[in-house]
Parts: sequence; C-alpha cells; structure tokens
Amino acid sequence: MYFSINDAVELANGIRMPVLGLGTYKTPGGPVVEKAVRTALEAGYRSIDTAALYDNEKGVGRALRQSRLGRGEVFITTKIWNSDQGYHKTIRAFEKSRMNLDTDYVDLYLIHWPVMGEYHGTWRAMEELLEKGQVRSIGVSNFMIHHLEDLMREASVAPMLNQFELHPCLYQTELVSFCRDNGIAVEGWAPLMRGRLNDDPLIMELAEKYGRTTSQVLIRWALEHGFVTIPKSVTPARIIENSLVFDFSISKEDVVRIDSLDRRERTGPDPDNFNF
Ligand SMILES: NC(=O)c1ccc[n+]([C@@H]2O[C@H](COP(=O)([O-])OP(=O)(O)OC[C@H]3O[C@@H](n4cnc5c(N)ncnc54)[C@H](OP(=O)(O)O)[C@@H]3O)[C@@H](O)[C@H]2O)c1
Repeated sequence: MYFSINDAVELANGIRMPVLGLGTYKTPGGPVVEKAVRTALEAGYRSIDTAALYDNEKGVGRALRQSRLGRGEVFITTKIWNSDQGYHKTIRAFEKSRMNLDTDYVDLYLIHWPVMGEYHGTWRAMEELLEKGQVRSIGVSNFMIHHLEDLMREASVAPMLNQFELHPCLYQTELVSFCRDNGIAVEGWAPLMRGRLNDDPLIMELAEKYGRTTSQVLIRWALEHGFVTIPKSVTPARIIENSLVFDFSISKEDVVRIDSLDRRERTGPDPDNFNF
C-alpha cells in the first residue's frame, strides 16, 4: 500500500497528510519531547501529533525551529481539550496552541473527544479557523458513527479525518467503513496497543516470518489497511525502528489473520462513556 515514509493520504480538501507520524501522548514537554521530535525528523518523519492536553506543544515547536526543515515540510496536528470546547473558548484555545507551537498555522486541528452539548459550537469555530487559513484542515477524534452523523447534520464542512483507537484487538470495521464512505480519513491511535501485543503469539510468529520486530508488524498492518498511523516513543532507537516499515509488506492472508485478533479491547476510554 505505502512504500515510502513520504507517502501521504489526501484529505477531503486536497491537503496531503503523511501516513506515518510521531505520537507524543505522555511525552514530557521540554528536552524529552524536543529530542523525540528531533530524532523523528532526522529519521524522515514529517508529521507530529500533539494536543493541548499533552502539555508539550512548546517543545514540539522548539524542535521544529531547531530543525533545518521549512515550516511547510512538517505536518503538525494538535487538538482542542474538552474543557475548552464551545465556540468562544475554542477560538481562544486555538490561539494558545498556535502560540505554543510558535507557528502561523496548524496543519490539522482536531476535537479531542466528543463532549456532548459542546462539539457543535467547537466545530463552528474550527470551520471559521479553516476559512481564515489558520488551520489547513479540521477533524475529530474519538467520534463514533452517531457522533459523526450528529456533527455532520449541522456542519458546513464535514470532518476531514477521525483519529480513534485502532489496532488489531480493536479493529473498528464499521467505524472505518463509515468514515471511508463519507470521505473522512482514518487515523489510528495506540497502533502498538501501548505494548500489549508485543508477546502475542501471532504477532511474534509474523515478526519472525518477515524478519521484523513485533512493533514493525503492527505499524505495517495499519499501513496495509491505509490508515494514518502515529506510534509514540521517546526512545531514539524505537523511533527509528518504527519508521523502517516501508520496505516490506504483509501478505493479504496474514493481514486477515491479524484482523482476526479483534476482540473489541480498548486500552483507553470508551467514547460513549467518558467523564472528563
Ligand atoms: N486522540 C486521542 O484521544 C489519543 C489517545 C491516545 C493516543 N493518541 C495519539 O496516538 C499516539 C500513539 O498512541 P499511544 O502513545 O497511546 O500508544 P502506542 O503508540 O501504541 O504505544 C506507545 C508505547 O509503546 C512503546 N514503544 C514504542 N515503540 C516501540 C518499539 N518499537 N518497541 C517496543 N515498545 C515501543 C512506547 O515506549 P517509549 O516511549 O518508552 O519508547 C510507549 O510506551 C499518542 O502518542 C498520541 O499522539 C491520541
């Protein structure tokens, strides 16, 4: 499916987003995130996923400035946190994130979680930011089908991407199909299931078969499905390892075997039942 770290998916408005990005959830701000982002950029990553919640946007911005890359060469995603949702708060929160990242614009701005009663107002603000060119694309995160349907009933612009938990043990086929049918790109978080699949017998068997690590097999599985994927690491050797996934492919039969690990198991909260 994808054979270069520079491969990208095209979002509904034509913006291209790299298929591989660096995740930064729980990556401490300051030197740790700066080093992780620097390592990733040197390894060829051109996309960084952060969020206001992660409290590391400033470090991401600093690492980008330190790199010799032009702003247009790196795709930056950030997200609005739940307590900042609603039209007016979103406009203010975006400006704070933009300043933290020290950038004129953000490539992709996401609603972090579907906070009921708030996300319509949040979305109106995001449509306005898009219109003004302060964000190049807008999307959502952790939205289930009914959230997407509800949002799209009132929206002028449909979400261009949905970022949700997605790995072999939570292979959300109905949600993936719904997104695809509606022109919404699919991005998976926790592609490594936060380490819980490293000793799975099938993943270990396939790692041996393809001469790769279990993490590489999991990332390649996401790529074989055409998902945008954002494995997180603060460990330089792992950041590099996770990028070396474009010179092999997993056979269709083996992809189907991995698909069969689905047991609807989440590592994170359920978007239909969260209280934060
Ligand atoms: N929208 C949302 O609500 C949401 C929620 C969760 C995550 N996300 C995004 O998705 C990204 C990825 O998800 P995640 O961070 O939850 O989980 P993940 O990427 O599945 O797993 C990260 C864990 O795997 C370890 N790891 C990374 N590469 C490895 C390798 N090659 N071998 C062995 N272990 C490895 C990391 O350790 P070290 O760092 O210690 O190396 C870390 O403990 C996040 O960082 C964030 O950007 C979004």
